[in-house]
Amino acid sequence: MELRIERITAEYDSTIYSRLSELDKLCVGADGWSEESFRSECAKENGIVIGGFIGDKLTALVSGYTAEGEADITSVAVNPEYRRKGFAYQLIGVFESILPENTESIFLEVRESNFSAIGLYEKLGFEKLSVRKNFYVNPRENAVVMQKRLIDIT
Ligand SMILES: CC(C)(COP(=O)(O)OP(=O)(O)OC[C@H]1O[C@@H](n2cnc3c(N)ncnc32)[C@H](O)[C@@H]1OP(=O)(O)O)[C@@H](O)C(=O)NCCC(=O)NCCS
Repeated sequence: MELRIERITAEYDSTIYSRLSELDKLCVGADGWSEESFRSECAKENGIVIGGFIGDKLTALVSGYTAEGEADITSVAVNPEYRRKGFAYQLIGVFESILPENTESIFLEVRESNFSAIGLYEKLGFEKLSVRKNFYVNPRENAVVMQKRLIDIT
């Protein structure tokens, strides 16, 4: 089963935005991003959206952006039928590889109870930085803020 990984840019077939939104909502429920949010993220100069495809089927996504020497991952989702195959790991690796050279750290937030995602991020070299109380709603939950340093500035 070969995963094809592509950066989604504004030139991409416009049906991709509803497919990204569908996958995100399938994986994270109502908090998932809308078609419009993905469209604007892909159009931003500092936005990075990456899709993982099996044939024509979108099976995985990671989205984020860069700003002033930092990067943020805003969404990671893998279709439940394709989990535990290293897809999220590979996509985040590609995300990291296309960041500007001066990027010092990648940050993200994750629900405190999301052990599979926390395990994924730790395997990728992220460390827990802090906790944001009641950051999430429906259900209300703390967020763990995680950071991966790319440049050692100490
Ligand atoms: C979290 C998620 C993106 C992981 O995607 P995935 O493609 O299955 O992850 P990978 O196969 O790349 O896993 C890489 C590592 O992450 C960890 N991991 C992933 N899923 C795990 C699970 N269910 N339990 C424990 N560890 C897990 C493991 O360390 C794994 O390495 P291993 O398989 O060698 O043990 C996926 O489960 C998902 O879409 N969840 C719902 C959406 C979500 O929670 N997104 C993150 C929001 S912050």
